[in-house]
Formats: sequence, structure tokens, C-alpha cells
Amino acid sequence: MNERDSEWMLGHLLSCGWETADNPQNASLAIINTCSVRYHAEHKAFSLLGFLRKIKNENGLKIVLTGCTADAYKEKLLKDFPYLDGVFGPAEEKELIERIDELFSSNKSMLSVGKQTGIKCFNSGSDYRKEKITAFVSIMEGCDNFCSYCIVPYVRGRERSRETNDILDEIHALKEKGYKEVMLLGQNVNSYGVGNKNGFIKLLEEVNAIGIERIRFMTSHPKDINLDLLKAMKDLEHVCEHLHLPLQSGSDKILRLMNRKYILSDYLKLVNNYRKIIPSGSITTDIIVGFPGESTKDFKRTLFALNQIKFDSAFIFKYSPRPNTAANGFVDDVGRKEKEARNLIALSIQKEISFRKKMKWIDKNLEVLLERKDSEGFYKGRSSQNFTVHAKGSALEGVVKNVRINEARINSLRGEIIE
Ligand code: 5AD
Ligand code: SF4
Repeated sequence: MNERDSEWMLGHLLSCGWETADNPQNASLAIINTCSVRYHAEHKAFSLLGFLRKIKNENGLKIVLTGCTADAYKEKLLKDFPYLDGVFGPAEEKELIERIDELFSSNKSMLSVGKQTGIKCFNSGSDYRKEKITAFVSIMEGCDNFCSYCIVPYVRGRERSRETNDILDEIHALKEKGYKEVMLLGQNVNSYGVGNKNGFIKLLEEVNAIGIERIRFMTSHPKDINLDLLKAMKDLEHVCEHLHLPLQSGSDKILRLMNRKYILSDYLKLVNNYRKIIPSGSITTDIIVGFPGESTKDFKRTLFALNQIKFDSAFIFKYSPRPNTAANGFVDDVGRKEKEARNLIALSIQKEISFRKKMKWIDKNLEVLLERKDSEGFYKGRSSQNFTVHAKGSALEGVVKNVRINEARINSLRGEIIE
């Protein structure tokens, strides 16, 4: 979502006459669009600030920080980083150009962090996209789930959905421009709906009818997925066979402390149903290790879940306390070293599983949307399951080809284009 917001902001600046500089030394303005979901993401932005400060000293560069970190820390940022010229929260991105004009005319540092209630109008004023084949399409913003570790509801506000017609118009326009794939984005796409909260399947049907080659979506919450959605994924020809379904923990005790509203057995049933309905589909997840109160036994339950479910891949994060969240009030009692150790153990188990699962595709065919040539002359693309595939043979970029898989790696597959 953050990347889509960055595209959208850059598009607005470009349409108002700004140009992108080839390096910060030649720039008059730098905008860091931050993510604050985990400490690591935030820390990266702060390191970048330190780097830009040196350049500011040389060329007077104006530095603006936007996005969720702005909302999380507000005026504290101007205190901690006095060389910052502007701090604008996600709600302020709509007025970005005005704010930047003010910044240049007043020469004073500015803080502007409003309440997040509206929804961006992605259809107007900005049509810049980083990629040529796949496009991100935001369908909703905010979240009402309040998982106890998560900052999203505090920085992105309450859940609100974009009007269906706006979304469909955007996708029609993308198809006209030659885009082949859309990724529908929202913190909790399964509760999409204007007026009613059960609109996601209907939206998928309407997007499918547009006829754009591929439709992906993320992220889903296990408590909001039902058989109807799984059947829709199977029946709608353009919807890809990939489900990203964050599990977070395999321990029911920890899931309860996380306020996830399901237990492991609910999740296992969901996975069984998914695999029954879409046997060739892939499933990926997010896991947090070292959540407050996670005993060795609880951690082992997460390892058990990884071994039991056998995800195609998993993002495994070390818990980091986030401001305002409920878990920020819990004692962060799993030490840094222990979190690190658990992270490494879970990663190595998942690595083995990912590799074994990839091996099963050898001598099978996958439909691959070819994106671009890599440095070795292979076409790099993705299968419907969202596997990265490097394919040998001749074809055009942006077409779907059948690829015969002949080699598996942990994070990718290799093969030959056969038709
Ligand atoms: N610490 C670690 N990981 C987190 N995530 C969200 N909040 C935290 C946190 N405080 C992870 C979750 C989520 C993903 C986007 O980031 O796994 O699914
Ligand atoms: Fe955060 Fe939970 Fe909402 Fe996902 S569902 S954005 S983890 S509060």
C-alpha cells in the first residue's frame, strides 16, 4: 500500500511540473514515504534521513517525511530530526502539492497530520506507475481488527472502501494501457464493501468481467475467508491461484493475546478447504516470533504449524513493540537474542519446506506471465501461484506462456517455454 501511495504522490508531483532527479545531490526535494508496521521498516527511514541530512547541508535540499511514521510520532519527529522540513501524515497526502508549495514559499518547517477518514481519489491527477505489466490497485484503506501488535488501525484509521465504480474505471484504464495484472490492495480485502461488508466476492466478479489477464489480492484475514470466496477463486478464470493468509502464530494462547479471533484448528480447516477446492493453488503466510508471553512451547506450536501446513513461502518477523498498540503495554519478555534464535530456526525450517514444495513442480507445466529478461537471458515472470519463474526460450514480454519446469530453487523455479 505504501508503494502504491508513493507512486500516486510521485504522479501528482510529475503532473504539476516536478521532475525526478537522477540522484539526491541534484534534487531540491526529497520525500521519504514511510511504513511503520515494524521497527525495522521505520529504522530504515530514519537511517535514510541521516544520509539526506548531509546532502541538505551541501545543496539546501528540502526533506519531507510522509506516511505512517509521520502519524505515529507527529511533532516528536521535528524535535528528533530538526533538519526535517515537513512531516505529513497519510491523510495529508491528498494535499501534498499545496503543502509542498507552502514549504517552499514560507521556508518554515511544517507538521500536518490529520485524521484519516476519507479515501484517496486514485483516479485523478496522477497516473504514474513504476511497473508496466502489473499494477497495484488500492480497494480499501484502514483496518478495524486491532490485532494487539499492529499499528495499522492507529495510523491508517478505520476501514473504508473505495467506490466500486472508481476501482472498475481504474482497472478498465489499466487494461487499455496494456497492463496484464492487477493486485487489489487493502489491509483486510475480505471485508471490502461500500454499505455492506460482504462485497469482496462481488468486486472480484466485476473485475473478472473486465477481462484483464490476471487478478491478485492481498491481504486476507483468516476470520473473514469463507467457502464462497474459495469457490469464487476457483470459478473466476482471471483470479490467480494464490492465497496470502497470515497465520501469525501456531499457539492458540498467543493467537488469543494477539486478538486474531481464530485458533489453529480453524486455520487448518481453512487450508484444507482451500487445497480441496484449488489443488494447484499456493498458500503463503506471515509469522511473528517472540510475541510477549511466547514460551518455548508456544514457539514449538508455530513450528508444528509450519511443518503441518507446509506453506509455499512465509515471511517470518521478530516481534517489535509498536506505539499505541495494546501489546505495547505487555511485557516484551522474549529477549532480543531469543527472538533472533527463534527467527533463524523458523526460517530454516520454512526454507527446507519451500524448497521441497518447489521440487514437486519439476517436469510439470506452469503458466507464466513473462515480465522481463534477467541478466542471464532468461525471462523472469510469475506463475498464477505467484512463484518466480525464470524461463528460457523466445517470447514477448507481457505474455503468458506455458513453461516446463526443470529446476527448483528455494525462492524460484527454472524451465523452458514450450508454447
Ligand atoms: N512486530 C512484528 N511483526 C509485525 N507485523 C505487524 N506488526 C508487527 C509487529 N509489531 C507483521 C505481521 C503482519 C505483517 C504485515 O507484519 O505478520 O501480517
Ligand atoms: Fe494489522 Fe490485524 Fe488489521 Fe492486519 S488485520 S492490518 S495485522 S490490525
